[in-house]
Formats: sequence, C-alpha cells, structure tokens
Amino acid sequence: MKIFIDSGNIKEIEGLMPLGIIDGITTNPSLLAKEPGDYRENLKTICRIVQGPTSAEVVALDAEGMIREGRELAALDEHIVVKVPFTREGVQACKALSSEGKRVNVTLIFSAAQALLAAKVGATYVSPFVGRLDDIASSGMGLISDIVEIFENYQFTTEILVASTRGPMHIVEAARLGADICTCPAAVIEALFKHPLTDIGLEKFLKDWEKTQKKP
Ligand code: E4P
Repeated sequence: MKIFIDSGNIKEIEGLMPLGIIDGITTNPSLLAKEPGDYRENLKTICRIVQGPTSAEVVALDAEGMIREGRELAALDEHIVVKVPFTREGVQACKALSSEGKRVNVTLIFSAAQALLAAKVGATYVSPFVGRLDDIASSGMGLISDIVEIFENYQFTTEILVASTRGPMHIVEAARLGADICTCPAAVIEALFKHPLTDIGLEKFLKDWEKTQKKP
C-alpha cells in the first residue's frame, strides 16, 4: 500500500521524505491556504522534493472553470494530479481532463455510488474521507470495503486513496481491506512508528550491552 502525506507544508514534507516510505502528496485548498508564499510555487517545490503524484485541487465550481484550472495546475509540473470535488460538474470535468490524459483525483467521496461514477469517468484516484464519516457516526472503513468490492467486480483501474485519516488504525484497516493508498497528516505517519514495547525493548538491549562492555 502506498503512503501519501496529506500536507502543503514544505518543511513537514522535507522532514518525512528521507524515511523512504512516502509515495506522494495530497493537498487541498484548506491545507495550501495555511502556508505562506505563492501556492503555485509551493506546489512546484513539493513536486521537486517528492518526485511523485501531488494532488492539487481546483476551486471553480463549474465544469468549464474546473477544466481550465485543471489544465493550469497540470502545466505546473509533470507530477501534478488534478483534484476535483465530486459534484455533477466535477464528474464532467474529470471525464474531460482524463480524456486529455491528465490524472484526476476525485475528492470528497462519501458514498460507494460516488466512487463508482468517478471510476466510470476515468478518475485515476478516488478519495473517500473516512475520518469525516467516522465523525458523524458512519463507518469510514465500511465505505472502503464497499468500494474495494465494486472496483474488483469490474476491474476498474481507479486507485482507492483513503483520505481524512485520523490515526494508525485507519491505515492498518485500509491495508487489510486492500486499499491502494492512504494519505496521512504528518502526525499520523509519526504515530505509525510508535510502540511502547519497541522503546522498552531497545532501552533494555542497550542497558544489557552497557553492562557487558563494563566487564573486565
Ligand atoms: C485528502 O485529500 C484531504 O485533503 C484530507 O485527507 C482531508 O482530511 P480532513 O478530513 O482531516 O480535513
């Protein structure tokens, strides 16, 4: 399973890349708005650092505007994936952009029906938001399970990009279900590394080693 960082923060991304586990980036207007500087330049910098798929979202609401913005975003760097919201207009824009050979990530997916329609119009990725579903007492992982089943039934090549992840168990569950990608905030990626028994075990190994070294 691929792991993307859900961030527009260049320092955060630079800090995680050396780990060797990062395959791409997702951004959204909320994330990019938090960062200083020109968002286009920031996106280009992120693409240069990551050298992998980097989702950049359109903000137009009409299909024509989304297509125009999508083309502009795609022209910034070969790694840019155009992100469009799942709306009637977004579906039309996805069809047009994917027909031109541009990679499209259809975002704000909250139902299996939406994922199916996005796959039909050639989305490279669909982004179901598991955390936001869990927040309203609905099952985020239930949705992932449904989409995995549907995509397998029809051999869609659209990848399932699990978004709005809140903690390690979202990543583990997504992997168990066979999702293609999880996009995670930096804090969730950091949490994947942590286990108290690893810390306790390492401390004991080092203490025991120190004792041995002290023997005459
Ligand atoms: C994914 O592409 C989205 O940017 C993101 O995962 C949304 O997460 P949130 O629900 O924590 O805002």
